[in-house]
Amino acid sequence: MKDNKPISGFSKLSKTQKIDWLVQQLKLNTETANFLADFESKNQDAQAVIADLSENHLSNFHFPFCIAPNFLVNGDYLVFPFVTEESSVVAALGKAAGFWANRGGFHAEIIGTEKKGQLHFSWTGDPEKLKNHFAQVEERLRKDTASITQKMEKRGGGINTIQLKYLPEILPNYYQLDVSFETRDAMGANFINSSLEQFGKSLKLWFSEQKDWAAEERDAEIIMAILSNYVPDSRVRVWVECPVEQLAETSDVASAKRFAEKFVQAVHISRNDVSRAVTQNKGIFNGVDALALATGNDFRAIEAGGHAFAARNGKYAGLSEARIENGDFRFSMELSLAVGVVGGVTALHPMARLAMQILEQPSAEELMQYLAVAGLASNWSAVRALVTTGIQQGHMKMHLSNILNTLKATDEQKASARLYFDKREVSFSEVEQFLKNDAGN
Ligand code: MEV
Repeated sequence: MKDNKPISGFSKLSKTQKIDWLVQQLKLNTETANFLADFESKNQDAQAVIADLSENHLSNFHFPFCIAPNFLVNGDYLVFPFVTEESSVVAALGKAAGFWANRGGFHAEIIGTEKKGQLHFSWTGDPEKLKNHFAQVEERLRKDTASITQKMEKRGGGINTIQLKYLPEILPNYYQLDVSFETRDAMGANFINSSLEQFGKSLKLWFSEQKDWAAEERDAEIIMAILSNYVPDSRVRVWVECPVEQLAETSDVASAKRFAEKFVQAVHISRNDVSRAVTQNKGIFNGVDALALATGNDFRAIEAGGHAFAARNGKYAGLSEARIENGDFRFSMELSLAVGVVGGVTALHPMARLAMQILEQPSAEELMQYLAVAGLASNWSAVRALVTTGIQQGHMKMHLSNILNTLKATDEQKASARLYFDKREVSFSEVEQFLKNDAGN
């Protein structure tokens, strides 16, 4: 940045002014405005929706929107939509879907759907006194949030429990209201946060109304009110299983047994070694995030909660489990996550809406199951490759496409490069050299 001073009022500029400022400031190509315009949707309604999702919008940033058919989940065949920038993730997901469709498919069940939020506050009175008055406080909180909860209650949701926690080990005089919610098909962030903020106002007022209490007891400081993305009680279990010999793609039963044993060992390592656990879970979230993104769900919330869930026993561990029992191979996972299928980006973003149609308009519980299936499928393919061919073989094929595109190879050059590199090591310099030689011929 040549002009070393801040700009004020940037957000108030029009889009054209923002682009002009950027081009001038960073001495960008004068074609930048056209370049940015090229990435906008021709569909004006869709473009307006996308532009309004965020602030200081200049254009759109495209990621591939992909599908993988043959996901057999609880007996039904589904097509899964995915959005990811990572080569070979969708190919791996599609392969896992096809493999398990011939072996009973994926099984999934909901363990719970409870979400959490907290009101954090400090109060200098006697903790016992507050505990003794808490039934009264709770009644007031529920009464004051009635207008917020009414609609949610009609849909079968609402505020479940409100727990008072005194936690002086975190801060002197510090308390939490630890609140659990049911939000049905909504992710519920607005509902939870509005309820908690109202709790904060009502609680402060309630303290001020205790006329016979000492002056300092009549005041509480509300620190903050916010949902928690740690949702261990909003949880799904997913698994695949088959006799070990059916893991063989040929009739080589001995190799199927060896494969199953190595697979179980690899998963065991991820349950006991943090460095491997993080990578194992990254592979799981390759699938989860790609489906979450396609359906307009908040993948940062899902990831943050998922990683915390992976550390629920005090040590970060791989989320999946694998075992061989009585000749059967079973690969499973429990995943905690909160998702919505109504409201938010899911209902707004035209591509997310299409993704929901492709998934045949699932409920939030169904979508939770599909996300976990995508995670397990992605993990299956990654670990399978790791304990057999290694991960690079598949990756490099996809990587080759990216390199060819970067080097602007023609369709003809791409075809001959794919043949040439079929059994050779792919690297940027090797591909570059190949194209140069090809051009010289
Ligand atoms: C790459 O995106 C994901 C893997 O590293 C996952 C794993 O190691 O299990 C292949």
